[in-house]
Amino acid sequence: MSPRVILKLGGSVVTSKGLSGAIDTRTIDAIAGEVARRPDVPLLLVHGAGSCGHPEAARYGITGGINANNRRGVGETHRAVRRLNDAVVTGLREHDVDAIGISPLGAYFIEDGDIVAATTEQLGVMIDLGIVPVLHGDVVMDRTRGASILSGDRLVRTLAPALGIQRVGLATDVAGVLSRDGEVIPNLTPGDLPSTTIKGSTFTDVTGGMAGKLSELVVLAREGVPSEIFHVSRIGDFLDGSPHGGTHIHGG
Ligand code: IPE
Repeated sequence: MSPRVILKLGGSVVTSKGLSGAIDTRTIDAIAGEVARRPDVPLLLVHGAGSCGHPEAARYGITGGINANNRRGVGETHRAVRRLNDAVVTGLREHDVDAIGISPLGAYFIEDGDIVAATTEQLGVMIDLGIVPVLHGDVVMDRTRGASILSGDRLVRTLAPALGIQRVGLATDVAGVLSRDGEVIPNLTPGDLPSTTIKGSTFTDVTGGMAGKLSELVVLAREGVPSEIFHVSRIGDFLDGSPHGGTHIHGG
């Protein structure tokens, strides 16, 4: 069997990030087509929140902790990102991909921002059956803060080692990690990062944009799992193992 693959769809590729709640169904349909054309790739998908979740998380101040005054934000944020998850799963199923939406809220527990419990073994069973689990960045209960945001990138970073996955790709709305003058940086190692200036995101992003993404992928690289960041239009190339013009992050 081919090796298992994790593909993360950035929130900015599946939503219109400036427009609150706007789901980009055309892009979802195009991505679903690419996945459907490669039925032999054992795949797990993760997507971010984009304009379905980040605005709610920011409005209710979720990253500052939850109390009786803002607890409504847990449900509002979760519902927003679930709505997006449903659209992604629907798009995939319309292309005959056996996708199932799975929310971290019911399977993960956090303490002061760090994952302390996660039930993930079932995901491996699904992948081996040819089912595509579709997880998403979510709001998750936190023992000390009440609730925390669990980003899709953190999910990717922890799921890859848990499921023995060595191929990790992140599809974004840019061609890769960009230097300050807008050029794709083709290779990054954890040692390069302190001396590298990258271009940041300007949208509401409670999980830190490209810098937040890189901090997770660097941990993954140190654990021996390489990852790749590329433009959403190159998903087919990534799934085929072909050059995609993006950034490879590896242990060095
Ligand atoms: C954030 O997930 C989840 C919520 C705000 C509920 P991500 O951090 O993975 O989302 P994107 O990819 O940056 O939009």
